[in-house]
Amino acid sequence: MIKGTTKVCGVIGYPVEHSMSPLLHNFFAEQLGLDLVYVPFSVPKEKVGLAVQGAEGLQLAGINVTVPHKQAVMPYLPEIDEAALAIGAVNTLVPVEHGYKGYNTDAAGLLRAMTEEKIEIQGQDCIIIGAGGAAKAAAYVLAREGAKNIYILNRNREKAEALAGELREQFQGQSICGMALEEYSVLPEAFYLAVQCTSVGMHPHVGQAAIEEPAFYERIHTGVEIIYTPMETKFMRLTAEAGGKTMNGLSMLIYQGVTAFELWNPGVRIDAESIAEAKLLLAAGLKG
Ligand code: ATR
Repeated sequence: MIKGTTKVCGVIGYPVEHSMSPLLHNFFAEQLGLDLVYVPFSVPKEKVGLAVQGAEGLQLAGINVTVPHKQAVMPYLPEIDEAALAIGAVNTLVPVEHGYKGYNTDAAGLLRAMTEEKIEIQGQDCIIIGAGGAAKAAAYVLAREGAKNIYILNRNREKAEALAGELREQFQGQSICGMALEEYSVLPEAFYLAVQCTSVGMHPHVGQAAIEEPAFYERIHTGVEIIYTPMETKFMRLTAEAGGKTMNGLSMLIYQGVTAFELWNPGVRIDAESIAEAKLLLAAGLKG
């Protein structure tokens, strides 16, 4: 029930129609009995600055930022959290005195999802597949959490090398290396944690994986997927077939939302039961 006291949160993106965030946040608000509503805002590129100013004027209680505005929103924020600045992308705005502070809960959500699923990062040999925005957030998390070696494999080798170089500057002394996808065969003998960060395998191209050779998957003990449509990608299937543990992108999606919701509502902790229910709700929502 929307009343005179109801706090308003929302998501800005373009397009925004397929966002799962309204479903997720309105569910959390209802579960916790909070007087809060969360709505989608379709904002074209040239209106991003106006949207942030407008949000401040309307005193919106929290905003998510989705594709394609995660970088574009940054110049309009008086404060940006250290991790978001390092990753170069913001997906959550939290009200501060003169506007909003930008956070990156995609990275925080990935870490929280991995922690919940008891996937260790510290001391692990890791592979990141991809070198775009999602890969950058994942690589940052792995480096910060003390991965032993990080190999970034990408179709475009130069992009992998550039990302690895950028991360080595931020995390001096860390072993981070950029390579081409097919160079997985020359990786040092080890058992790896792999994070799949390309768009390959995403609906409707469900029958594909960036690396298809079974020999690659024999070297993976855990395969973390960023894609959540479908809920089991070919990357996950190949990992499981080779005996590896898998985590799907839905966990990261949920925990980025949980982290944002908790930032907007200090003192609130969303419990494991609500998170499990939210997972079922989103899974049903994604099936349509
Ligand atoms: P996001 O922000 O979701 O990470 P992005 O920045 O566009 O999106 O990055 C997409 C990633 O998927 C890149 O690593 C891209 O590889 P290239 O840098 O070589 O383009 C990867 N990718 C997309 N289509 C691919 C394909 N068919 N095969 C292999 N990699 C692919």
